Amino acid sequence: MNKAAPNLVISEEKAFEVWAQICGHINGMALGGSLLALRVAGHLKGAPLTLDRMNGNAGYLNGLLHAMAAMGWLNEPVDGVWDWTDAGRDLIRQADLLEHIPTLLDAADALLDRADCDLPDIASVPAPLGLILQGYLLAPLMLGCAARQDAIAPPNSHATLRALGWIDENGAFNDLGQIALSQAGAYHYPVTYLPTLARVGELLFGDPMGLRARTATQEETHVDRARDILFSGLVYQHSVGPAIWDRLRDVLTSAQAPRYILDLGCGDGQMLAEIGKRAPSVQLIGMEYNRVAQATAAERISGFPNAFVIAGDIGAPQATIAALTERGIDPKDVLLITKSVVHNRSWTPPTGPLVSGDTHAMAATPDGAIITGDALAQNLTEFFAAWHPFVGPHGFFVIEPHAIARATLRANLHRSIGPCLEYTHCLSNQLLVQADCLRRCAGLAGFVSRYSTGIGAGTLGYDHMSVDHFFVA
Ligand SMILES: C[S@@+](CC[C@H](N)C(=O)[O-])C[C@H]1O[C@@H](n2cnc3c(N)ncnc32)[C@H](O)[C@@H]1O
Repeated sequence: MNKAAPNLVISEEKAFEVWAQICGHINGMALGGSLLALRVAGHLKGAPLTLDRMNGNAGYLNGLLHAMAAMGWLNEPVDGVWDWTDAGRDLIRQADLLEHIPTLLDAADALLDRADCDLPDIASVPAPLGLILQGYLLAPLMLGCAARQDAIAPPNSHATLRALGWIDENGAFNDLGQIALSQAGAYHYPVTYLPTLARVGELLFGDPMGLRARTATQEETHVDRARDILFSGLVYQHSVGPAIWDRLRDVLTSAQAPRYILDLGCGDGQMLAEIGKRAPSVQLIGMEYNRVAQATAAERISGFPNAFVIAGDIGAPQATIAALTERGIDPKDVLLITKSVVHNRSWTPPTGPLVSGDTHAMAATPDGAIITGDALAQNLTEFFAAWHPFVGPHGFFVIEPHAIARATLRANLHRSIGPCLEYTHCLSNQLLVQADCLRRCAGLAGFVSRYSTGIGAGTLGYDHMSVDHFFVA
């Protein structure tokens, strides 16, 4: 959260209230369509839920049950049975209103394109469903208003914004509204996943593979990747950049500085470009598997001497390193860095014996099976082991978001979009683990972290990202 918009006199308490509303919209938007799918399948009648009786795709349903428990709607499971909390039962009482969601999803699409649309009257729907329904409208609307720096909200949003207290009687954003606009960037995240959220019923109860289809040019259809990369860039600017520079400054400006820095899954190249500005003697190299990102990153770093971008997959280190050696680059001269990509690797069942431990996981295979925590940890260990032979004396700098213990998420629900992050990662087969699991797996693969820190606690109440500089032990 950005604490305050400039020049506003507003208490920190009020600013946090606005952020809590935004978190409610974002978490609600991630879960609303799934609640509707549960209702359609007859699972929203108050009876306790068990995976084996839900008759759907267990991996995605497991993610949903975990996220609903994080929201405080379900109790912790006892012998695989998830019973409703009082808050969950309140939600069930309002379940008829979930029928607005298909219309709201269409409206969200239209609002993103600035097309005209009729908005259902949801302004007076009370909590808990009110915030869920509002999210679909306010995410695209607030992103648009923030980007255009609108002082007045569009008339079709007035009832909803007035109910939130964000506009005055003339439709102008008041101080609270200005705070909301200054924090609107967070809405990019659920909007990125709208293509998945709109078809979540198929993932939970139908054929999940339809959503995995790619376009003729191999672009993904389940996520708006350009927006995902934009959101990652915002996260970089607001929190990651300052946190990693503390360490990179020393590494990149020392007498033993690496000649090259290779960013694995470099997205739009923002992190590389920022590093290049601060450490001009290091040659920048990006690696990406998405063609749009390759082109954007190549353009962004084109002004730096000898900078270039290669195609590659973070799960195939040998090919990436071969692409460097073909250009005469010795891997020993390279500092490897990656941000928010390790969990994006494609899932392959582990080949070695499972690492046992208390690994929390809500991950699913593309066809909707559960990935157990132990299997996920072994897969991550094998990922690190595959990189091990190619990590030279400059090490491997890993910046990753994480799964968070449910009790921690629940305690910080008023200021966290954790349930949305974790559930959308599950729905898109991304492989989040807790930070201690990542370090444990890297250790099992033969790495030791010589610099370790976390990001997020000041805003969210817990670290949702980790930064580690790993070296071969
Ligand atoms: C969340 S974005 C992060 C982008 C950038 N690292 C940042 O932090 O701004 C994930 C990026 O990883 C890329 N990516 C996903 N899976 C990948 C893989 N298996 N190998 C290489 N890149 C991958 C995506 O195309 C996307 O650009």
